[in-house]
Amino acid sequence: MSEFAAAMEDPVIRDDWYAVARSSDLAEGGVMEARLLGETLVLWRTGGEVLAWKDLCIHRGSKLSLGWVKDGQIVCPYHGWHYDRTGACTLMPAHPDVRPPAKARTFAYRAREAYGMIWASLGEPEHELPPFPEWDDDGFRKVLAGPYFFHANPFRTVENFLDVSHFPYVHANLNGDPDRPDPIEDFDVFVGEDGIRTSEIMVFQPYGDHRGIPVNAGYTFHCPRPLTAYFSKNTGEGNRFCTFLTVTPLAPDDCIVWLQVAINFGEELTEAQILSRQDRVFAQDKRIVETQRPYEIPLDLREELHVRSDKYCVAYRKWLKDLGVAWGASA
Ligand code: FES
Ligand SMILES: [Fe+2]
Repeated sequence: MSEFAAAMEDPVIRDDWYAVARSSDLAEGGVMEARLLGETLVLWRTGGEVLAWKDLCIHRGSKLSLGWVKDGQIVCPYHGWHYDRTGACTLMPAHPDVRPPAKARTFAYRAREAYGMIWASLGEPEHELPPFPEWDDDGFRKVLAGPYFFHANPFRTVENFLDVSHFPYVHANLNGDPDRPDPIEDFDVFVGEDGIRTSEIMVFQPYGDHRGIPVNAGYTFHCPRPLTAYFSKNTGEGNRFCTFLTVTPLAPDDCIVWLQVAINFGEELTEAQILSRQDRVFAQDKRIVETQRPYEIPLDLREELHVRSDKYCVAYRKWLKDLGVAWGASA
């Protein structure tokens, strides 16, 4: 079975939204290719609207993403068939007087735009896009980092983001001190209709943020969807550094990480400084997550060992299991 067919059999994975491109990479009249769950998409923009279709011309199967937009329609690069935004072929240039048959249609998926990203779904999502509370708050500066390409399991990639006890080791002298690793105090996990959350988890960070100063940081997490997670990091005096992470699944061992940060302090920092720290942290995570085995996240809690500080990751695995996630996980 193809990767695409396997993913289409898991409704939890199929019927969700995933980030597939940066909004700024698709200008008006632009065309580009994107990938999602073993499928290749053509994204194009006309009249400000973004469309996401299967990247395939019905005539001879060429890639529409090699085509272009003309007068609000997409033109196939091979024989120039024109498709309007509903996906219907409107013109076959070799037969300009022939009305294209009703079967001459592309396969349209759903598309949205939010948080500086283009989102697509291969199914019929029952959920709205995951929330990002600081997005509309002008007191927070936003910086889009990534995308980072992880040859790793999408769920293990999210679980790594939810795990605070790796900080002193994977992010030594940045998010923790390997010679003085923090004992993790007990914290609460809340499971609800809108996902899983934690109470505040305190950790000491020698180089807590882009200012390069030590901080006592309080992390509060929310994981609203299986492949989207968020934390708000409180470093005192009202300073908050929030990170919205969303992972695009490509295959059970392949994914793309998108990261939007929202910060309400450090106006003097340049965007390059903010990005360089994110690039460094995610390169450190990638090295570990790409090598975890088995690569499929085990949802049977008898697999692997869990301790008290893993409480949130254990809740994540249980929640995935309760939601019925099968693709990309081992039962
Ligand atoms: S393959 Fe697209 S027009 Fe022929
Ligand atoms: Fe990490």
